[in-house]
Amino acid sequence: MMNSQLRTVVQGMPKAELHIHIEGSLEPELIFALAERNGVKLTYPSVDALRQAYAFTDLQSFLDIYYAGASVLLKEQDFYDMTAAYLKKAEADNVRHTEIFFDPQTHTARGVPMETVINGIYNACQDSPVSASLILCFLRHLSEDDAMATLEQALPFRDKYIGVGLDSSEVGHPPEKFARVFERCRGLGLHIVAHAGEEGPPAYIQSALDVLKVERIDHGVRILEDQALTERVAREGIALTVCPLSNTKLRVFDQMKDHNLVQLLDAGLVATVNSDDPAYFGGYMNDNFLAVFESLPLGLSHAQRLARNSFAAAFLPDAQKQAFLAEVDAYFNALPA
Ligand code: ADE
Ligand code: ZN
Repeated sequence: MMNSQLRTVVQGMPKAELHIHIEGSLEPELIFALAERNGVKLTYPSVDALRQAYAFTDLQSFLDIYYAGASVLLKEQDFYDMTAAYLKKAEADNVRHTEIFFDPQTHTARGVPMETVINGIYNACQDSPVSASLILCFLRHLSEDDAMATLEQALPFRDKYIGVGLDSSEVGHPPEKFARVFERCRGLGLHIVAHAGEEGPPAYIQSALDVLKVERIDHGVRILEDQALTERVAREGIALTVCPLSNTKLRVFDQMKDHNLVQLLDAGLVATVNSDDPAYFGGYMNDNFLAVFESLPLGLSHAQRLARNSFAAAFLPDAQKQAFLAEVDAYFNALPA
């Protein structure tokens, strides 16, 4: 059991979230409320029945339900309400800055205009006291042409997102499938990230780095299977956005005590803790922090390091980053000895 001081410190420390899919923050209650509001028919008879279906065996079994849940999002207000609800949770967990993924193709494929998606999410960010930026993710189970067309549709809103990412079904859809669209994104000055090494092999982490030229790796927990790659990523200071509750719910690790977060840190990697899809995996940022601190040999110095890593790896102007890092250090320095 972790002691109560450590629990309080981890909950109260300033932190940044760098891996959250906004569609994964849609709680069952809000799914049902939006279904009702929009006249969308759900295949689940009740909130409880939907929640019961959240027993995943792997990434795909989750994605099937996650895309079904997102089908209730039709109007700008729906995207606003979803995002505002997430930001309230983030604020309560003392998340000071968040970089939010969104999956436009999940919505545009249903006829929802790009403008509706981006404006709803963006306006909720503007109205929150939490610093928030958006990252547009391409769905890797779809074609590169589809991703390119999506980028084209999003170009009129270029000032409302800071970067692009790559998510959805990993195995069989390596990063190099999207070489051209990411090259175009780099030319536009967008930040670049990609999911790699969640279920997929370390080779996908390598091609995310070498072909897409990512600045962070989302998940990346399988990196330890390749020692040379581990050493390279540590040396280059490329951060990993690790999602502990996601990893256990999707059976990347059987139990939290088997999670490799400590080994990642011990290898000198800039690992961070994040929630991924909090409505589906049993918790938001502090739930993820408490889960790893409960189950793994982590102490106060790790807490400070994880909080520092989260801001160090954020896509923030340097002055703002330094200010947040100073806040983290002041918080830890003020703790009773
Ligand atoms: N989309 C939402 N959550 C995801 C995850 N954990 N991996 C890949 N794609 C996702
Ligand atoms: Zn993810």
